[in-house]
Amino acid sequence: MNNFEITTPTTIVFGKDQLERISQLLKTQAVDGKVIVLYGGSSIERSGFLDKLKAELSDLELHFFQGIGANPEYTTLMKAVEYIREHQIGYMLAVGGGSVIDGAKFISGAVHYDGDPWDVLTQVPGCTFTSAVPFGCILTIPATGSESNSGAVISRSELKEKRTMGGPLFFPEFALLDPTFVATLPKRQIANGVIDAYTHTMEQYLTSFKGENLLQERYAEGILSTLIEIGEKVLKNPEDYDLAANLMWCANQALNGVLRCGVATDWATHMIGHELTALHGIDHAQTLAIIAPRLYEVKFESKKAKLAQYGKRVWGLEGSEEQVARKAIAQTEAFFHSLSVKTRISEYTKDYYDTGRTVHDRFVARGWTGLGENKDLTPKEAEYIVNQAI
Ligand code: NZQ
Ligand code: ZN
Repeated sequence: MNNFEITTPTTIVFGKDQLERISQLLKTQAVDGKVIVLYGGSSIERSGFLDKLKAELSDLELHFFQGIGANPEYTTLMKAVEYIREHQIGYMLAVGGGSVIDGAKFISGAVHYDGDPWDVLTQVPGCTFTSAVPFGCILTIPATGSESNSGAVISRSELKEKRTMGGPLFFPEFALLDPTFVATLPKRQIANGVIDAYTHTMEQYLTSFKGENLLQERYAEGILSTLIEIGEKVLKNPEDYDLAANLMWCANQALNGVLRCGVATDWATHMIGHELTALHGIDHAQTLAIIAPRLYEVKFESKKAKLAQYGKRVWGLEGSEEQVARKAIAQTEAFFHSLSVKTRISEYTKDYYDTGRTVHDRFVARGWTGLGENKDLTPKEAEYIVNQAI
């Protein structure tokens, strides 16, 4: 087992009818009573949640910043940064999914940063956020785990870029996980949530290594099996509270930092997938459904033993190691299809001729010459995986 360190400082308040707890938490944290509510498009307005929130927090000085859309945009977030600076607001409440919460993490670091925050995202040497405006969050879509981790992914569409950031400063102080939000989600977003959580688990499980941390492997298999058990059901019955609660908890556990303890992790599916979002606007989870099966095929030899373990334990497959490993990839892709998610780039865009080459060139330019658990997935292989996924 590898050495590891873990801190999970976010207070999680899980369940329905917990808004009162949030106002208690906020009132303790926001010392001067001034809070900015960050949110996305209009889902929380349409559902009436925003009105409930305003009523609950009526004794605070609330400010609002609306419009942090899916794949949060650098330029939009910079407007929030300016607003917070101008109004000297010291506490933020993010209400939304991964996009709003990631946006809050970026804003939180950028507010007190003197230079150009884009330099931090592009990892210009010496450029880093050194302080953060504290924030809590209310999760409205189970998917990313952003509500209790410290990572964020920020897009800049004018440059067709999508970059990651993170660090211990960026954990939300608290997160309200209310499964009743699932009832208002479009089916596409529910399917995205299942696949994102599934792939987060796979990134930290499906590597070239077996038996590094036995508990973590069983834990990952438990999350995968639960997602398979509930995936189609929650898509059909989003109003079923127990199904929604199980999805929300799985998605949280898949990326709250626990699965990575003591094990090697891959993350190449995500790194390649982010480029498909940046270049073609394909939803994050859809890019994972496109890339993951092809990546497992390309890295078949090194991942074969773990694929076979996954196939046996999670899918109940039988046969030789080789057979089970192959079938496990097919089952994974079939699972994505069962959620009505397509797994080919050409099913999302016709503009794919240069995609593989562009991903290759970007990875070379960034010095990403070896991704994955063995740091051996080359830009050439990334290009090949993308081309195989067309
Ligand atoms: O903006 P509104 O109107 O709220 O609509 C949103 C948005 O259009 C809608 N939605 C959210 N809750 C809803 C709802 N619609 C109806 N009812 C509700 N209760 O759903 C749409 C998608 O929201 P978004 O926040 O973009 O989804 P998700 O949570 O999947 O986040 C995706 C973003 O997170 C990043 C992705 O790259 C992407 O930018 N990720 C963040 C990670 C992290 N911080 O750890 C890890 C992930 O791998 C991922 O990269
Ligand atoms: Zn993801």
